[in-house]
Amino acid sequence: MKTDTHFYYQNDILTVDGVRLDELAAQYGTPLYVYSKAAFTDHYRQYADACHAHHSDEIGSLVCYSVKSNSNIAILNILGQEGAGFDIVSGGELLRVVAAGGDPGKVIFSGVGKTAAEIRLALEHDILCFNIESLAELKRINRIASEMGKTARVSFRVNPNVDPKTHPYISTGLKENKFGIPYEEALDSYLTAAKMPHIAITGIDCHIGSQLLDDAPLLEALDKLTDLFDRLAQHGIELHHIDIGGGIGITYDSERPVPVADYIDRVFHRISAWKKARYPGMPFTMVFEPGRSISGNAGILLTEVQYLKTNAEKHFAIVDGAMNDLMRPSLYEAWHGVLPVTQRSGKTTSYDIVGPICESGDWLARQRELAIEEGDLLAIMSAGAYGMAMSSNYNSRGRAAEILVANGKIHLIRRRERTEELFALETVVS
Ligand code: LLP
Repeated sequence: MKTDTHFYYQNDILTVDGVRLDELAAQYGTPLYVYSKAAFTDHYRQYADACHAHHSDEIGSLVCYSVKSNSNIAILNILGQEGAGFDIVSGGELLRVVAAGGDPGKVIFSGVGKTAAEIRLALEHDILCFNIESLAELKRINRIASEMGKTARVSFRVNPNVDPKTHPYISTGLKENKFGIPYEEALDSYLTAAKMPHIAITGIDCHIGSQLLDDAPLLEALDKLTDLFDRLAQHGIELHHIDIGGGIGITYDSERPVPVADYIDRVFHRISAWKKARYPGMPFTMVFEPGRSISGNAGILLTEVQYLKTNAEKHFAIVDGAMNDLMRPSLYEAWHGVLPVTQRSGKTTSYDIVGPICESGDWLARQRELAIEEGDLLAIMSAGAYGMAMSSNYNSRGRAAEILVANGKIHLIRRRERTEELFALETVVS
């Protein structure tokens, strides 16, 4: 059964970096998100180390962790200390980065719907760059920067019309998607921006999708961005960074993503040759916005089997985790590994792992061969990305607690929500 470097069995008990998951469940209850600090830093360093190997006086890099994948401030703090920048998509994420001690000077702000209040907040914090997605947004940023007596650093998110070959809900670089500005309109958009007094154009950006296993579509997008970079240079617009968007996909089951270091090497080989030929001496930064590949396999969701139930068709393991805790299976029919925390010998049965929520879509895994009994603990694997971050209070369920295991020590990094807190903001009308 698949385990990884950080979540593995010791004497038939599943552990996180050697800390027993059954003991964590006994102490903190279930459902419970459990993360490995070492996994977060290992995964981040796969990007950072591969980038550093290509640094020179002229070429640098910035790895901006995509906050949306897992935004707990303990995680942001760890990555900030590692030197990460942050890719954010809301004012809320910016305030999280600030609360975590992250550097706003390394923050990139993406997203199609930035509000005036969010733009103001970002300018107050002097973020590194806005990734602009429309001319209307450009105008709004220029106006607000002017009111504040500031200049906004911007890059355009260009839609390179490259097929990322991933789930349609997480494909973003095709013509029909709502994201970015069309490739063909990019030049005109830059020329418009160049005339705006409170705008400083610094780069170009794209994000074609998530959970990409192959880097060929990313490299194709990169080539389109360098072509555009050259055309802009011919029009006197000098850029200093290229942001290629999110990271490489991860192994949930048997996927074999291209190794991060190989992808980074291929990016820098292209960039170095291109820059040497065309822009010798020009300072340049390559920006990456990985989320899932840093957080996904750094966490699991721990849940307890409440009941085993059999009907004419199926066997169900009804657990205390649900679609409100981990929405990916309901939303994308996503596959997550399921491991028993205590390995039992004996006959296995094919179970659907389902939650207590009143919807047939409330399932976490289907048709898994398991030898389990009521009261057993299950680990839903690869749940560190888009797990807790997408959780809700549906069915008035308090959100799970979060634990971080760091150097053998256990830290509660978010306590379980209390039921009274779920309606504390509501008022009865008398
Ligand atoms: N940058 C931008 C502008 C993004 O929109 C995203 C993800 C990323 C970076 C990070 O991409 P990553 O390295 O994680 O692939 N909820 C879905 C994933 C949605 C991804 C949205 N954008 C899921 O659970 O699979």
